[in-house]
Order: sequence, then C-alpha cells, then structure tokens
Amino acid sequence: MKKLTFNTVMAILAIVATTVVLSTTMTSCNKSTSSAAAPTLYDSLGGTTMVKDPTSTVSGAMIEQGRLNLHYVVDSTIFVIAADTALNKKFFSVLLGEVGNNNFSGFTELSKNLTDFFSVATGAKDYTYTGMSMASAHNPATNSRMGAKASSADFDQFVGDLVKGAQKNGVSNNLIGSVGKLVYTLEGQVVQK
Ligand code: HEM
Repeated sequence: MKKLTFNTVMAILAIVATTVVLSTTMTSCNKSTSSAAAPTLYDSLGGTTMVKDPTSTVSGAMIEQGRLNLHYVVDSTIFVIAADTALNKKFFSVLLGEVGNNNFSGFTELSKNLTDFFSVATGAKDYTYTGMSMASAHNPATNSRMGAKASSADFDQFVGDLVKGAQKNGVSNNLIGSVGKLVYTLEGQVVQK
C-alpha cells in the first residue's frame, strides 16, 4: 500500500479545511441574527435523531444517527488499518492475532471505545467515553495492546486511514476537514516517540 506522507495528509486536510472556511463564510453571509446554538460537528454527522440500529444484535434497537454514522466510520477505519502494512503488524498485532483466532472481543471493545470517543469529541451529549486516556492508551507501558510508541509519521498514516474510512461512508470533504482538525489537537498525547 502507498504510504501517505505528512505533506499528502496536510494537503488533503488543507483543501477540505479551506472548503469548510468558504462554506462557513457563505452560510454566515446569508444568515440573519439568531439565538439558536451553533450546530456541533456531531449534529453535522447526523445528530441525535433516533434511527434503527442495524449494527445491534438486539431486535428493534435504536441509536442516534450521529453515533451510527461514526460507528460505521470507525469500523471501516479499523479495516483500512488492518490492511495497512505501515501500521498493522507494528501496532495492532494483539488485535489482529485475536481476530485471526475468531476472537472478536477486542475488536468489539475497540470499536465501542473509538465510537464513544469520537461521539463525545464531536459534541454528543448522550454518550460517555470510558476508555483509557489518550496518553495511556498509546503508551505500550500502560497499554499492552499498543505494539509500539507512535511517531508523528505514524500519526499522519493513521489520519490518512481515518480519512479513507470516512470516505468509504460518504462523509463530505467539509466534515472530514473538521474531524481532521479535531484529531490533530490530540497529536501531542498520542505521539510519544
Ligand atoms: C487522534 C488519533 C487517535 C485517536 C483519537 C485514537 C483513539 C484510540 C482509542 C479511543 C483507543 C481505545 C482505548 C481503550 O481501549 O481504552 C485506542 C487504542 C489504540 N490505538 Fe489509537 N487513537 C489515535 C491514534 C493512534 C495512532 C496514530 C496509533 C498507531 C500508529 C494508534 C494505535 C492504537 C492501538 C494499537 C490501540 C489499541 C488497540 C486494541 O485495543 O487492540 N492510535 N486509540
């Protein structure tokens, strides 16, 4: 697989971030003054509208549309990472070993934790993140599932995979740009090498 360079990732994010700025500017020109709270990123990703949850094993289970969309993006991203030779064996060997043995408990927990994390980080009010802190989760000394300390090049590669996971689910470039800005605020906690 072609490795995404830092410059490539930054170029993608710069293009989508410019689109965000332009569309925000255009929207604000059309707006009259309003007291309504600005929509969160979570609202833009689907928000709190309740929909049927096709990913649940419970018949008739409902879920917020924003969380369902994030769940799809997270699972797609895990599959992109699993196929990404720049990241898979070096960092995710515990997870991949389990899945190779038909044990999906770690996958299910990671999927839930990542979905909770992105839900809360984008502005969801009805979910809680109960996993490790970003610093502990990405330190092999405190998380034996983390194969090695990540460098900033690894971080860029991870974000590139996240962009692919979002694109596979039809997330707009606007929203990908906003999520990209958000994840780069976490780089200092994740990158420990
Ligand atoms: C801002 C970007 C990132 C976010 C938001 C993020 C988030 C998370 C979260 C929420 C968890 C689960 C923690 C828990 O189970 O308590 C996790 C685990 C993990 N992360 Fe990240 N992460 C990011 C970047 C990275 C990068 C760059 C790498 C490696 C290159 C990485 C590798 C891992 C690994 C190996 C695990 C453990 C997976 C497992 O449970 O088997 N993450 N991450």
